[in-house]
Amino acid sequence: MTIDRFQTEADLSAALAARVLETIVTRPRTVLGLPTGRTPLGLYRELRERSGGDRIDWSQVRTFNLDEFAGLGPAHPASYRSFMQAELFDHVSLVPEHIGFLNGTAPDLVAECRQYDDAIARAGGIDLQVLGIGANGHIGFNEPADGLRAETHVAVLTRPTREANAHRFDHDWAQVPERALSMGMATILGAREIILIATGQEKAAAVQGMIEGLITTRLPASLLQVHPSVTVMVDREAWPR
Ligand code: GLP
Repeated sequence: MTIDRFQTEADLSAALAARVLETIVTRPRTVLGLPTGRTPLGLYRELRERSGGDRIDWSQVRTFNLDEFAGLGPAHPASYRSFMQAELFDHVSLVPEHIGFLNGTAPDLVAECRQYDDAIARAGGIDLQVLGIGANGHIGFNEPADGLRAETHVAVLTRPTREANAHRFDHDWAQVPERALSMGMATILGAREIILIATGQEKAAAVQGMIEGLITTRLPASLLQVHPSVTVMVDREAWPR
């Protein structure tokens, strides 16, 4: 693991956006894995601003998002798909057919998950996966547990994770769906390169466990230690050294 520590969240977002755009410019057919959440907001702001006016050609880029809430369709205002449209997709020259997204209202959620892994494989796999981290060490919606799922699957959300997502549901955690669709650990670890971003003091314990702790399914992000190409980008609060 390579650790890149930044003075501020803005510095981190600018450096990551530069790295993502450099990847797209040098390899126009890049396949990106993308996260939602508050942490990547700065990244998406930078990508919007730097790509504006067709300065960056996204037309051959493919994207696959990590997760989506079960029961929420793409147009639902609290869906992760709506978040991505507003923060990135509506502002860059991505082709809609190149956007891979789990559909939380698919009639058969198990089949939806299987087809998602197939679509990622058909696209040639993920070149660069950007990840956030939950305060409990989850990545995507792979929650701490005695065992983790390898493939994309329907996940049951823990109460802390539902509370952490309540801001998208009128700040009422009980309105947050109990289940979500998420890339599995093998799907995530199959990416050629992974960049995990973490900011703020509330992530410090999870970040420390991920970097320095034993590999354990009780802290899913710790499994990233087995991947050959992981960069952890943190601010001072998330990695106070
Ligand atoms: C959410 C998402 C994750 C995200 C994490 C952190 O529940 N499922 O993909 O990385 O929690 O979110 P935030 O950046 O808002 O702290």
